[in-house]
Amino acid sequence: MPFVVKRFIIERKMPFSCWLLCICTLWLKVSPTESESWNAEVPQSVVGLEGSCVVIPCLFRYPGADRKASDFTGIWFTDSNEKVYHSVTSKISSAFQQRTSIWGDLSHRNCSLKINPLLRSDGGPFAFRIEIEDFNKYSFTHNKVSITIKDSPEQPTLSIPELMSSGKRVTTTCSVYHSCPSDPPNFTWSHKGALSSQSLQQTNGQWKITSSLSFTPSKTDHKKTLTCTAAFPGGKKGSRMTTLEVKYAPENVVVLSEVSVVEGSNLNMTCSSDSNPAPHEYHWFTEAGTLLSEGHTFTLKNVSRHIGTIYCTAINTEGQANSSPIQFSVLYPPEIKVGSSCTLDTSGVTCLCIVDSHPASEIKLWGADPSTELRRIHEEKHGTLNIVTLQVALGFSDTVHCQATNSQGNYTMTLQVPHNHETHNNKLLYISLAATASLVTIVGLAVWIKCCDGLGRHIHGGTHRLDNGTLTAIRYRDEMLGPIVRPYAGAVGPGFLLVHDNARPHVARVCRQFLEDEGIDTIEWPPSSPDLNPIEHLWDIMFRSIRRRQDAPQTVQELSDALVQIWEEIPQDTIRRLIRSMPRWCQACIQARGSRTIY
Ligand SMILES: *[C@@H]1O[C@H](CO)[C@@H](O)[C@H](O)[C@H]1NC(C)=O
Ligand SMILES: *[C@@H]1O[C@H](CO)[C@@H](O)[C@H](O)[C@H]1NC(C)=O
Ligand SMILES: *[C@@H]1O[C@H](CO)[C@@H](O)[C@H](O)[C@H]1NC(C)=O
Ligand SMILES: *[C@@H]1O[C@H](CO)[C@@H](O)[C@H](O)[C@H]1NC(C)=O
Ligand SMILES: *[C@@H]1O[C@H](CO)[C@@H](O)[C@H](O)[C@H]1NC(C)=O
Ligand SMILES: *[C@@H]1O[C@H](CO)[C@@H](O)[C@H](O)[C@H]1NC(C)=O
Repeated sequence: MPFVVKRFIIERKMPFSCWLLCICTLWLKVSPTESESWNAEVPQSVVGLEGSCVVIPCLFRYPGADRKASDFTGIWFTDSNEKVYHSVTSKISSAFQQRTSIWGDLSHRNCSLKINPLLRSDGGPFAFRIEIEDFNKYSFTHNKVSITIKDSPEQPTLSIPELMSSGKRVTTTCSVYHSCPSDPPNFTWSHKGALSSQSLQQTNGQWKITSSLSFTPSKTDHKKTLTCTAAFPGGKKGSRMTTLEVKYAPENVVVLSEVSVVEGSNLNMTCSSDSNPAPHEYHWFTEAGTLLSEGHTFTLKNVSRHIGTIYCTAINTEGQANSSPIQFSVLYPPEIKVGSSCTLDTSGVTCLCIVDSHPASEIKLWGADPSTELRRIHEEKHGTLNIVTLQVALGFSDTVHCQATNSQGNYTMTLQVPHNHETHNNKLLYISLAATASLVTIVGLAVWIKCCDGLGRHIHGGTHRLDNGTLTAIRYRDEMLGPIVRPYAGAVGPGFLLVHDNARPHVARVCRQFLEDEGIDTIEWPPSSPDLNPIEHLWDIMFRSIRRRQDAPQTVQELSDALVQIWEEIPQDTIRRLIRSMPRWCQACIQARGSRTIY
């Protein structure tokens, strides 16, 4: 053990006798294990941030550590023996006063030195010395530490999951190395979330602190910057940022298109949405859910006024969403409906001009002289239908002209004014079926009767609802013809005519047989069944009215109730006018040889 002996000579000026004794005791006491020799575990060099704090980890060993030591004096000193730290604070050199402390417990062999704040001049090297009262002293000059002083902090490293999806919780971490375990850097994040942190000691007096942020990203986080900032003691900061990439299902899906479109033209539509990634699939549907097309854009050819609404669905890896239905305003030139006519009345000639157009038409009426406009007595609108009524004196003119003009074009119809009182002996009973497809796509079927006489003198009406199922010929006979038509025909007497179209139940053998047996005459109906029956116009008015309702019927019962209510609300005048148009209608039909009229 010459090595140990030599050191002893330096440390203690002992009489030679004692000296020998000491060697012997030492020889006995110091076991061959490392732990019992003088030794300090310190890093050779540590890195510190100027202005911040640095801790030099230090653990010393001394022979006879198992003996009960009473008092330890720890000293850190420089090569020029300047006291960096001393257990007796007054002995600390002025350059280090108030800045140094032992971070640990000397009696537990912990000689870690904390310097706070660290100055540029604190590079070292430094060595530790221990003085154990009543035992021994030792300077660990073979284990010197120097400090590398940096003037800017370490940049944190930020790691985020590769895939982020809206609504799925993720954890991001931010780590930074530092040298001050007693006062580690504080982290701040630019995003709210649950925070936790973890510290790990590295070699060479470095610690790695990791802050974890857990949060649930949302669509609004996409393309946002996530910043993590580490604030070191002394105020210096290091930060790292990254841009978040959050996947989310399509949102705000809308159909981009011209809303106002001319009938017959082609309409380009685009399905626009907000999503990440961009949708890889688009579907186009009608109001009723029929698939029209696929693809980002859709061209609807030859747009019709009956187009209804259209919506699109955008689909990406995260999900799908529908647009709200787009309602088009289809522009078309005016059409004057076949029901338009002049009829003779006790009070004179009443003319009716029924115009269907969008946008609404300017309607001009004149007799023989185009420059004198005839005064109308009534005008009403039902959706795109515009019904104008005027009265003229008998013999005023042979014809009345009705001209409708809108931005899309014009249409003129010449109405014949009847010359004399034609007698209308026939009492007509109109029956029509309406298959009502409600919003809930349940098909209800109802039978409605509107009764009136040909001249509109006594017009009354009623509706009859078949509560369940479809109308079969048997039901028609047993529920309509028998209990309703027969008594009515009886009350009207000779000249009664039943008007119904060629719907299958109407013309079934059992019904024809029944009518024949009861002596009830029917009007011969053209095979292609144009909508001759004036009730068809009422249906039109009613369905438009249903669509305009705020509280759309949800069940068949609600739909049925709503239809009955609307029926009741239709002004008698409207019905009267439609009935009066019947002769004109029939005339047009005869002219067209029973095929489709302009209607
Ligand atoms: C020294 O003491 C400090 C503070 O108690 C402790 O954090 C550190 O781990 C100790 N060092 C050693 C080497 O035991
Ligand atoms: C970290 O935050 C704590 C509490 O707010 C504060 O006492 C401490 O000084 C801060 N440390 C740093 C390095 O900023
Ligand atoms: C609609 O799209 C087709 C082809 O995509 C294009 O040729 C046409 O010009 C477009 N029409 C309008 C009105 O934008
Ligand atoms: C457009 O549709 C109408 C009826 O909807 C049809 O009569 C016409 O022939 C169609 N035109 C073209 C070019 O397809
Ligand atoms: C009606 O339309 C025709 C053909 O489009 C046009 O020549 C005429 O000027 C129009 N008449 C009126 C009154 O707008
Ligand atoms: C309607 O018909 C179905 C099946 O045919 C039957 O179960 C139901 O009871 C009927 N409802 C009414 C109100 O008659």
